[in-house]
Amino acid sequence: MKLRLSFYLFIGLLAATVPACKNQEQKTSAGMGITKVDFGEVDGKKVFLFTLTNSKGNQVKITNYGGTVTSWTSADKQGKRSGIVLGYDSLSGYLAHPPYFGALIGRYGNRIANGKFTLDGATYTLATNNGKNHLHGGNKGFDKVVWDAVTENDSTPALVLSYVSKDGEEGYPGTLRVKVRYHYTNDDALEIEYWAETDKATPVNLTNHSYFNLTGDVGNTILDHRLWVDADHYTPVDTTLIPTGEIKAVKGTPFDFTQAEKIGARIASVPGGYDHNFVLNKKDTAISLAAVLSDSTSGRKLEVFTTEPGLQFYSGNFLDGTLKTSAGKAINQHTGLCLETQHFPDSPNEPAFPSTILRPGKQYHSLTRYKLSLQ
Ligand code: BGC
Repeated sequence: MKLRLSFYLFIGLLAATVPACKNQEQKTSAGMGITKVDFGEVDGKKVFLFTLTNSKGNQVKITNYGGTVTSWTSADKQGKRSGIVLGYDSLSGYLAHPPYFGALIGRYGNRIANGKFTLDGATYTLATNNGKNHLHGGNKGFDKVVWDAVTENDSTPALVLSYVSKDGEEGYPGTLRVKVRYHYTNDDALEIEYWAETDKATPVNLTNHSYFNLTGDVGNTILDHRLWVDADHYTPVDTTLIPTGEIKAVKGTPFDFTQAEKIGARIASVPGGYDHNFVLNKKDTAISLAAVLSDSTSGRKLEVFTTEPGLQFYSGNFLDGTLKTSAGKAINQHTGLCLETQHFPDSPNEPAFPSTILRPGKQYHSLTRYKLSLQ
């Protein structure tokens, strides 16, 4: 009850203290701040594109359609600025439903086997939108809805999105009130913080689905990027990418990233490429370093910190050149990779995995920091 009150108090405070998005621009110093432009309309609701600029002039763009990070531009070691995530510069690109480029995923990141789970004696049936399985929240997950948006510009730019998911939406029980805050710091960290409350027990597993390519050019694959993951174990999957339930040691397998390794070095021995949940070594829910991705050509390094117990490393296996960027360049296989911080796939059907069930009176909270730097 206390938690619930504080959640609504926090929302209320936000509404009272943060000016609604009337201003087209809120800037503090030399270009730094947050701007807002029209981006179109979906389901009769206005969609905006927000640009968060930090003191270095680096920028993150986010739309309230699907809570999607559409671009993140930063300077490489030569000082040349370019985009490091896959995305589109107009809404139409997203309305064609690309594979979750930059999207906010919910209610459940990744798969739930056969779109079914049992909770407190009741069986729930979800949309099966990935073969026989449920993926990323269903047919119309959080990536395809319009979120309410409030901008903040205290010392560095932030955007707060909120959405109320109705009882029964995509088959899930309970009305779920979700709030997500994106904050872009002056040291190039994009922090994504999630809160949720429900009125009936329900699974919740929120994440962000950005595809990174640190070279800044979708003409390059990510196979030469080096990756380190703080995980001695991973969860093996069946042919439909549902965890088998085992927690397996990475030692001696292509899943061992406990020493930084090139992604392309062993990918050929992983059928279909990397699309696996890594069991982070952390023992508590404090935010800690989960992974480091680096690209020697551009000099860019991305550190991923999270409060979550798992990290889905997806090496862009299903990208096949069919989709083009806004500039018309083909988005080929392995030209972007995802590092999705989350609980393990199919947890509602795996009692031994950390629980993803949120109950009334409790608050879901998750924080991930993607920190970019030059090495
Ligand atoms: C999943 C992939 C899926 C991709 C895009 C990732 O999170 O693990 O299997 O293809 O999202 O939908």
